[in-house]
Amino acid sequence: MSGAVLVIGAQSEIGQALIGRVLAEEPESQVIAVSRSSCPDVLSSHVSDERARLVWLRCDYSDKQMGEVVKDCADLLAEKQRTLSRLVICNGRLHDATISPEKRIEEIDREALHAVFESNAVIPALWLKHLKVLLKTHLKGKIPAVIAVLSARIGSIEDNGKGGWYAYRASKAALNMLLKTSAIEYQRTLPELRFIAFHPGTTDTPLSKPFQRSVPEGKLFTPDFVAASLLARLSEALAPVEEEAGDNRKRPPARFVAWDGSEIPW
Ligand SMILES: NC(=O)c1ccc[n+]([C@@H]2O[C@H](COP(=O)([O-])OP(=O)(O)OC[C@H]3O[C@@H](n4cnc5c(N)ncnc54)[C@H](OP(=O)(O)O)[C@@H]3O)[C@@H](O)[C@H]2O)c1
Repeated sequence: MSGAVLVIGAQSEIGQALIGRVLAEEPESQVIAVSRSSCPDVLSSHVSDERARLVWLRCDYSDKQMGEVVKDCADLLAEKQRTLSRLVICNGRLHDATISPEKRIEEIDREALHAVFESNAVIPALWLKHLKVLLKTHLKGKIPAVIAVLSARIGSIEDNGKGGWYAYRASKAALNMLLKTSAIEYQRTLPELRFIAFHPGTTDTPLSKPFQRSVPEGKLFTPDFVAASLLARLSEALAPVEEEAGDNRKRPPARFVAWDGSEIPW
């Protein structure tokens, strides 16, 4: 597949693996990466090579800079004559020096709750807003494209049997609702745009590091394995719906899917 892929929150280990795979497997594809940080060494040769198959844009996720990034993307796609068909938003925060997932309701903290919602739900929602201008002018409602956000099974309200991890769980549920709501709105003007909330499974990245001891054997995935799964889900989303005789199936506005393609209840 050729065209362009936009990866937001590209410093994410899953995002980096995704970029690496696209560059390795799709010689004609262009990647645009957006991150607070500069390009990691492992990918920098692709930025400096003469075809510049990877363009790395810095962004502090303020509205101002998000708008500027969207404009830069539009200019780049026009200059390189590429069609943007896959967009992946990787941003997510579970813990850091001051935040850790709550085991009990007494541990809920106002600032931590706001911070986790900001990274997991607010920033992706703002991207869904800012990207509308680009998608409307670029896709013109005709070209199939897919937007995936990196969600987590823990954000499924129906699947919540264990409790705990209030901020992360609730912010991913909020992300899912924001995605599905925007998918319904986008469907009116860009019916060929598809939406996925993607659960990668527990993946060996800094985000899951402190919690890997309880992961059953064989269930801790490498970022590269997850990147391959995500690319497969994106391809499925872009494939035409199979028409079956007498079947009036309609594509749902958004799907919540796991790495293996299985459906997760919202
Ligand atoms: N690893 C897992 O087991 C697992 C399981 C389920 C879901 N997920 C989800 O998968 C996604 C990628 O995670 P990962 O495992 O690759 O983790 P990671 O390497 O820690 O990546 C963290 C990501 O979150 C962004 N981020 C971190 N702090 C932020 C902040 N304060 N403000 C804005 N953005 C911030 C980073 O963006 P920059 O590029 O701007 O730094 C980066 O995209 C996350 O949404 C995570 O919730 C991961």
